[in-house]
Amino acid sequence: MNESTLGGRFTFPGTSLMVRRIGYGAMQLAGPGVWGPPKDPDSAVAVLREAVAAGVNHIDTSDYYGPHATNQIIRQALHPYPAGLVIVTKLGARRPPDKSWLPAISPQELTAGVHDNLRNLGLDALDIVNYRVMGSGLGPEGGFIAEQVTVLADLRRKGLIRHIGLSNVTAKQVAEAQAITEVVCVQNHYNLAHRHDDALIDKLARQGIAYVPFFPLGGFTPLQSSTLSAVADRLGGTPMQVALAWLLQRSPNILLIPGTSTVGHLRENLAAGRLTLSSQTLAELDGIAAAVAGEALTAAGSHAGV
Ligand SMILES: NC(=O)c1ccc[n+]([C@@H]2O[C@H](COP(=O)([O-])OP(=O)(O)OC[C@H]3O[C@@H](n4cnc5c(N)ncnc54)[C@H](OP(=O)(O)O)[C@@H]3O)[C@@H](O)[C@H]2O)c1
Repeated sequence: MNESTLGGRFTFPGTSLMVRRIGYGAMQLAGPGVWGPPKDPDSAVAVLREAVAAGVNHIDTSDYYGPHATNQIIRQALHPYPAGLVIVTKLGARRPPDKSWLPAISPQELTAGVHDNLRNLGLDALDIVNYRVMGSGLGPEGGFIAEQVTVLADLRRKGLIRHIGLSNVTAKQVAEAQAITEVVCVQNHYNLAHRHDDALIDKLARQGIAYVPFFPLGGFTPLQSSTLSAVADRLGGTPMQVALAWLLQRSPNILLIPGTSTVGHLRENLAAGRLTLSSQTLAELDGIAAAVAGEALTAAGSHAGV
């Protein structure tokens, strides 16, 4: 698979880390509910090896997937890591035995999280660590994050982290972090139907910062839309390929980390860069988000009795 089919290249700002724009998100490799080891460890290893063999050099993970299990399978499949492979991980949550997702944001928890990632991935330093802000109930604009970003900046000075990113953040939180350290990427929820971050993407693009949408295919409930299916039929692709091609064309700072547990879906996703969407098709696809926003407004209106 050549360079152009993986969407071209992107260099994280102020770094020597250059990745192909279509990468891989490893969350789907853990067991059901992102808990425990993969249902089929051999196929998890096969997915990771096939991704790297096809040219993927950007893998997204976290030690709280599993927990530990996803990083351990990455290590089993790929260590010693090929030159140029960028593994991006994240901190900020923990998984208690009831399988819930709780914040883990004290200096001790963040530091322990870095060491968990290092140990389970088999690394001396982490290329990029995203501080993942949990929940949205932390006050206006999502709350302050300076304390946690300062801890990561200290760990960076100690050489355990090379670069810092953010996840699940507002524009205000990005600016707050940038007053403390360089931010090389932002990982938020965004896809064809969920476009809350349109302005943030453009702002980050002007600064050369990567925007890495999570749930690029819709996440646990993959995108379904008659418009998407009609466009896919017309172009000879699949709906998921069109959803990914749309993201690639949306902005040059968008990097893709679609998640899958199967080699078949992986191959399909990596081939998305072959599709080119005309301006007319892009306009048609833009209608999906407009329709979703309209439905949400109607639902909110009826709920509020307006
Ligand atoms: N920062 C955060 O808070 C955060 C949150 C969530 C995720 N993430 C990261 O973002 C990555 C991507 O998100 P995600 O994996 O949750 O969601 P996603 O990429 O939007 O979608 C994954 C889902 O789509 C299915 N799928 C994948 N390729 C497909 C295809 N070609 N055709 C049909 N179905 C397909 C997968 O099932 P199969 O396994 O059957 O293919 C899985 O159910 C994760 O892996 C993780 O690394 C980050």
